[in-house]
Amino acid sequence: MSLDHTDSPLGEALPQDSARRHVTGQADYCDDLPEPAGCLHGAPVLGPPVKARIHTIDWSAVRASPGVIAILTAADIPGENNAGSVVHDEPVFPNDTTGYAQQPIALVLAQSRLAARRAAAKVRIDYTAEPGPVHMDAVIAANDRLHDDLMLVQGDPDRALTEAPLTVQGQLEIGGQDHVYLEGQIALALPSHDGLHVVSSTQHPTEVQDLIAHMLALPAATITVEVRRMGGAFGGKESQAAHIALWASLGAQITGAAVKVRLDRDDDMRITGKRHEFQVEYTIGHDAQGVIQSALFSMASRCGFSNDLSRSVNDRAVFHADNAYFLPHARIHSKRLRSATVSNTAFRGFGGPQGMMAIERAIDQIAARLHKDPLDVRLANAYGAQGRVTPYGMEIQETTLIPLMQQLAETSSYRQRRAEIEAHNAKAPRQLRGIALTPVKFGISFTASFLNQAGALIHVYKDGSIALNHGGTEMGQGLYQKVAQVVAHVLGVSVSRIHPTSTRTDKVPNTSPTAASSGSDLNGMAARRAAETLKVRLCAHLKALWNTTDEPVFANDQITAGAHRLSFAEAARSAWFARIPLSATGHWATPDIGWDPHTGKGRPFYYFASGAAVSEVEVDQITGVPKVIRADLLHDVGESLNPMLDLGQIEGGYVQGMGWLTMEQLVYSDTGVLATHGLSTYKIPTASDRPTDLRIALWPNQNPEEMVYHSKAVGEPPFMLAISVHSAIAHAVSCRGPEGWWPALNAPATAEEVLRCLSCAASA
Ligand code: MTE
Ligand code: MOS
Repeated sequence: MSLDHTDSPLGEALPQDSARRHVTGQADYCDDLPEPAGCLHGAPVLGPPVKARIHTIDWSAVRASPGVIAILTAADIPGENNAGSVVHDEPVFPNDTTGYAQQPIALVLAQSRLAARRAAAKVRIDYTAEPGPVHMDAVIAANDRLHDDLMLVQGDPDRALTEAPLTVQGQLEIGGQDHVYLEGQIALALPSHDGLHVVSSTQHPTEVQDLIAHMLALPAATITVEVRRMGGAFGGKESQAAHIALWASLGAQITGAAVKVRLDRDDDMRITGKRHEFQVEYTIGHDAQGVIQSALFSMASRCGFSNDLSRSVNDRAVFHADNAYFLPHARIHSKRLRSATVSNTAFRGFGGPQGMMAIERAIDQIAARLHKDPLDVRLANAYGAQGRVTPYGMEIQETTLIPLMQQLAETSSYRQRRAEIEAHNAKAPRQLRGIALTPVKFGISFTASFLNQAGALIHVYKDGSIALNHGGTEMGQGLYQKVAQVVAHVLGVSVSRIHPTSTRTDKVPNTSPTAASSGSDLNGMAARRAAETLKVRLCAHLKALWNTTDEPVFANDQITAGAHRLSFAEAARSAWFARIPLSATGHWATPDIGWDPHTGKGRPFYYFASGAAVSEVEVDQITGVPKVIRADLLHDVGESLNPMLDLGQIEGGYVQGMGWLTMEQLVYSDTGVLATHGLSTYKIPTASDRPTDLRIALWPNQNPEEMVYHSKAVGEPPFMLAISVHSAIAHAVSCRGPEGWWPALNAPATAEEVLRCLSCAASA
C-alpha cells in the first residue's frame, strides 16, 4: 500500500526542517542566541561526594572569587522549593540533607561562565556522611520503596507453572544509560516588565513554566518558555531540563539581570538522571514445543533519590514484559526502589526496553534446551499464534508480528546464515559469530492517559504564507517537518509555504511533553484540526464569493471550484478583505484509552508499533569485544508521513540501543560518585560502530487507527530492535558451552561481561 496523494507532500521524503542549517552551523541553539548586556552566568555548586547532612558551608572563598555577583541557595527561593515533575519530592536546592553524592546545593552567579565555575569549586562544606544504597544489590537489600508496587496478574500463573512440563529461570542485570545529547542542558532567563521569558532546551516547556511559576510564586501567565530546537534530548530533557531553567529563572528574578546556565559536560553527566538500572528475576513454564504456559517476572529498578518519572517508566516496563508474546498465565511484579543516586528518568523506550529483555533471554534458553532455532520458539509464542490478549487485558488487533518476522527471516537469509555460523563456530575460531532475530511490539500512548492531548495554532497571513505552531518540540527527530507536511496536505499547499515557529507556552498553552513517541501523532492531529478549521472558513468565503455550490478543491497552492480559480495567496487576501479570521487553533485528545492503576488492566495504548531485526555479531574470544557486522531491520511505521525521517529514526534508535546493550557502562563509587562522567570513560557508539552492512526497510502497512493519515509513531520503538544484538552475542558465546547451555549474559555485554560468560561456558 502506498499513499496516492499525487499532489500532496504526505509521504514525501523531505529532510528535517533545519537539516541544511544543522550541517552549515546556522541553526541557532540556546547558546547561540545573543546575550543581553549584563548577562550573568550560573554554575551549580556540587554537594559532598556522598549523601550527607550538611552542618555549615564556608562561602568566603567563593564570594571572594573574581567576577562573583551572588550565591543563591534554598533560602533565596520565594515560593515552592521543588523541581519534582510529578511528586514534589525533589528540591531545587536541598536545605541541609542531600539525596545523592554531588547533588547541587547552590548556584553561583558570576560575570562569566568560567568565573562562576571556578568560584563554585572553592566551596568548603562541613558535613556528616549519611550514605545510602548505591549499587543494585545494596538497593535491593535496602528495599526502600519510592511508591506502591504494580502487580499485574493474568489467569492462574502459579497453577499453570506447576502444570507446565518444563521451566526455565534466571536473573538478568540491566544497566542504565546516559543520554549524551550533543547539546547539553542549558537555559537563558530574560526578565522583562511582563515577567520572565525563558529559553530552555526542554522537551516539556509547560512543565518548566509551571515549576518556575511555583518556585517564584508568580502566575504561570507571566512566565513564557520557548524552545526552537534541542541538540538531542532522548528523554533526558523531559524532566531534567527544568532544574537548569529553574536556576536561571531564580537568578534572573533575584538580580534583575539576564541569566544563562549552561552545564559543563562532566557536571551534566553527574547531576542529571539516566535510564533506570533493572534486575529482573523470571521463571517461565513451557511445553515440549517451547510454547509458554506461564510467566513470572519480578522486576526491581533503581530509581534514584526522588520520584521524577519513575512511576510511569516502571509501568511501561510492566506493560512490555510480554514484548511480542502471548502469555496465557502471567504475574509481573514491579518494585520501584529508592537509592542514593541521581534520580533516574525518561530515556528512549521509557522502561519498555528493560521490560522486554527477560522474555527474550528466556526464549533463547527454551530454544537451547529444546535444540530448536530460537526463531521457531519466537514464532510459536508471538501474538497471533496461541492468543491475542495481553496480560493487561487488551486484545492485539493487528496481525503484523508473525508475517513481519517471517518476511525478515526470508529477506535476511536468516536460517541459512545461522547454519553457516554454527558450522563456523564448530571449528573453534578466535572470532566466534552469532545471529538472532528478535521482534518488538511497542505500545503507543502516554500511560498517564491525561497526557494524550495536544494543541496547535496556525496563522495564515495576507500574502498566503503560513505560520505553524504546536505544543511539540523539535529535538532532531523531524517533528516540525512532519506536522508541516500534514498542514500542507490539508490546505493543498507546498511545504515551503509553511513556516514552523518555535514552541512557546504563550502560543499553545498546557501542553504535554514531546515524549512517548507521540509527538507527530498528537500534534499532527491538533494541527490538522486547526488547518481544517481554516479550510472550512475559506471554503465558505469562496463559495459565497463565487456564488457556487461546488465544493472548492485545495491543491497545488490553488483553490478551484468549477471554472473559478484563485491562488492560495489571493484567496487569503480576499478572505482578509471579507473580514474572515485567518488564525485558528486545533486540539486533539486521543479517545478510548485508560487503565486501572491498581490492577494494571485496561487499554493503556491506542495502538502498537512493531518491528523486527536480525543482527549478526562477531565476538573476539581473546579480547571479548563484540562487533555487529550486519543488521537487517524491518519496521512498521504505518503509512509513513516521511520515509526519510522514519529511516533516520530507525537507524539512530537501533545504534543507540546497541550502545546501551554493548558498551555504555555507568560506574559509580560506593558512595555514589559517578566515575564515568565524560566520554573518555563512558563509551558510546561512533560512526565506526554502525554495522557496515545495515539494511533497513519499512513494513508496508497502514495504522488501523486514524492517527495522522494512518501513520505510526517511530521515535522509540526501533531502539528495542537492538535486543537482537544482545541475543546474537549470547548465541556466539553459547557455541562454546555444552549442548543446551545458554549464557546468563547481562547488559551491557561489554568485553568484560562477554569474557565472564566465555569462562562460564568453559566450565559449564
Ligand atoms: N531523535 C533525535 N534525533 N533526537 C532525539 O532526542 N528522542 C527520541 C525520539 N527520537 C530523539 C529522537 C525520544 S526519547 C522520543 S520520545 C521521540 O523521539 C520524541 O519525538 P516524537 O514523539 O516526535 O517521535
Ligand atoms: Mo522519550 S524517553 O518518551 O522522551
